[in-house]
Amino acid sequence: MCGIFGYCSFLKEKRRSEVLEVLCAGLARQEYRGYDSAGLGIDGDKPGEVVFFREVGKVAGLRKKIAASSIDVNKTFISQVSIAHTRWATHGPPSDRNCHPIRSDEKAEFCVVHNGIVTNSAALRAVLQNRGYVFETDTDTEAVAKLIKYVYESRPDKRITFTELVKTVLKELEGSFAFVFKSSHYPNEVVTARRGSPLLIGVKTDKKLKVDFVDVEFAGQDNDAMIGDAGLPTSPSSLLAPPSANPKVLRTQSRAFMSEDGLPQPIEFYIASDASAIVEHTKRVLYLEDDDIAHIAEGELHIHRLRRKTGDETPSQVAATRSIETLELEIAAIMKGKFDTFMQKEIYEQPESVVNTMRGRVNFDSNQITLGGLRAYLPIMRRCRRIVFIACGTSYHSCLATRAIFEELTEIPVSVELASDFLDRKTPIFRDDTVLFLSQSGETADTILALRYCLERGALCVGVVNTVGSTLSRETHCGVHINAGPEVGVASTKAYTSQYIALILIALQLSEDRISFSERRNQIINGLHEMPAMIKKVLEQDSTLQQLATTIADNKSLLLMGRGYQYATCLEGALKIKEISYMHSEGILAGELKHGPLALIDENMPVIIIMTQDSLYPKVQSAFAQITARKAQPIVLCNEGDEGIPAGAKTIRVPKTIDCLQGLLNIIPLQLLSYHLAVKNGADVDFPRNLAKSVTVE
Ligand code: F6R
Repeated sequence: MCGIFGYCSFLKEKRRSEVLEVLCAGLARQEYRGYDSAGLGIDGDKPGEVVFFREVGKVAGLRKKIAASSIDVNKTFISQVSIAHTRWATHGPPSDRNCHPIRSDEKAEFCVVHNGIVTNSAALRAVLQNRGYVFETDTDTEAVAKLIKYVYESRPDKRITFTELVKTVLKELEGSFAFVFKSSHYPNEVVTARRGSPLLIGVKTDKKLKVDFVDVEFAGQDNDAMIGDAGLPTSPSSLLAPPSANPKVLRTQSRAFMSEDGLPQPIEFYIASDASAIVEHTKRVLYLEDDDIAHIAEGELHIHRLRRKTGDETPSQVAATRSIETLELEIAAIMKGKFDTFMQKEIYEQPESVVNTMRGRVNFDSNQITLGGLRAYLPIMRRCRRIVFIACGTSYHSCLATRAIFEELTEIPVSVELASDFLDRKTPIFRDDTVLFLSQSGETADTILALRYCLERGALCVGVVNTVGSTLSRETHCGVHINAGPEVGVASTKAYTSQYIALILIALQLSEDRISFSERRNQIINGLHEMPAMIKKVLEQDSTLQQLATTIADNKSLLLMGRGYQYATCLEGALKIKEISYMHSEGILAGELKHGPLALIDENMPVIIIMTQDSLYPKVQSAFAQITARKAQPIVLCNEGDEGIPAGAKTIRVPKTIDCLQGLLNIIPLQLLSYHLAVKNGADVDFPRNLAKSVTVE
């Protein structure tokens, strides 16, 4: 939800055109996070001046706007700082005035880009309006831009550092955020901070760095006293309090990046919501933790903490250093290559991505599973009272798809929860629960909130996450990375199959000491071994599915029906179809058919019925008979060579595998079908309307 980007270069001559290109490319890489509008703010011709470009829609539109402008793109800068944003609208419709960067006033003394939601923005707005501030946008972010100006103006002598100013403002905010601030009062400086939304900083320099980490300073009692002494706002109502004449100034002692010879050096910093926007410039990155505030100026980076230590922080938050990590990501992994869309590429990657999920973890000779990230926690997991899976969307479906085999192999009850509903119900969680959090991005707000809820209650929290370095992967006690590679298409495809396999691997690992299950385990492991080749075989049916899409694209609705393991496949298939082709689609549990959905069936309603051969096959045959008796002409998703399918029925055939793995194959034709339906309906496959890939707001 929204991508933010910042670019700062010091002591390196840069043409404005180069800076604009870096910003637009950084936005384009993060466009999957939101594409309602795009905007950027760069240094103007006069010192302290900021020039904005903003456009509704995608980055391509912003590029056109810049190209059509009369700005001098050849002007050069020795040092410059700039900020940029791609938006998924929360407060206020996508429109010119709501595009970021958001400014504090006409002179743009302060401007900011924001990912997240400031939940107390209405209260802040009201207080600031009472003090004469006139708002020009509908965004929650504008309250932040105006508040920082207010705090600055409240200082009679204006002797306040940019960091201190931001720190004061952040203390007033509720909700989630990642910000990058730029100001005419602090030329060549940016401040960036996060709470609840992802943020990382790439560092690029030709010289060797002497200090490969930064000190983290924990704000102590002094800082809190400083805020109070200064009379600065500590709640919206305190905005009305007169400013103190005697503010204390915080001096930071954080260490900086320096070259080995100690001389000033050319250096560039890239701030982004996602590593994909940074990797083409540098692989050296530093992930910020919640409540970190980073200040970049004069080629140095300093990190401060917003709050005093309370004892509730995660180990990574209280670590004394934020180390520079090396991104594993390869640039090719975030390019479309020969494919038309990222979604298509990611569907086709599945024979490899499932191998990557299993690589180094499954020994197909000895049938042993080794999940290093769980090793120390296996005894606790085996002893737990129950297992809870928590996730949203497609990740939730992967939990449903594997719940039965998890229960079968572990003999521990498993409940599957949608993160939002789990939180709404304030579900009881206990110390002897093991909770698995499934997320491709690792940044889904509801799932993160559910994680923190479970951490507070003392449960063992296990992450099953794709994005390395994400909040979920850092804040869980232990976990498994699914290693599917970057997933850029908004509709999740390869993450689903990899999550599915990762969950199966966890169940296999937990049951490794149970002799009675060894035959079942061996069958599953053999099935996993054959899986990549079988997926490849299903992908060969692409053109058949394209034809099928042509025959049903004009329908308003499409039902998917199945039961047992295949209920999750129906839900996931229906989600894919509705989210990218905008055709209404519903997954129906065949066992529930007679309890309502049968009323939808007539000769005009297209139905896909999943009838692959498992123990529930006879029951699905009955459902088939019931719908054909109501004149439906179902498309049957069935196994190759199954002769029990009535002659004349339209079929989609997939290879047969063991029951609990069949869903991995059955979902592939549905992914392809949804893709072709979307193309046929003229939809923008990678950027479905109203959606964004990483849902970082509640
Ligand atoms: C659907 C889709 C979403 C995500 C959901 C959770 O194609 O992508 O339903 O699965 O938003 O996202 P993660 O897995 O990142 O937590």
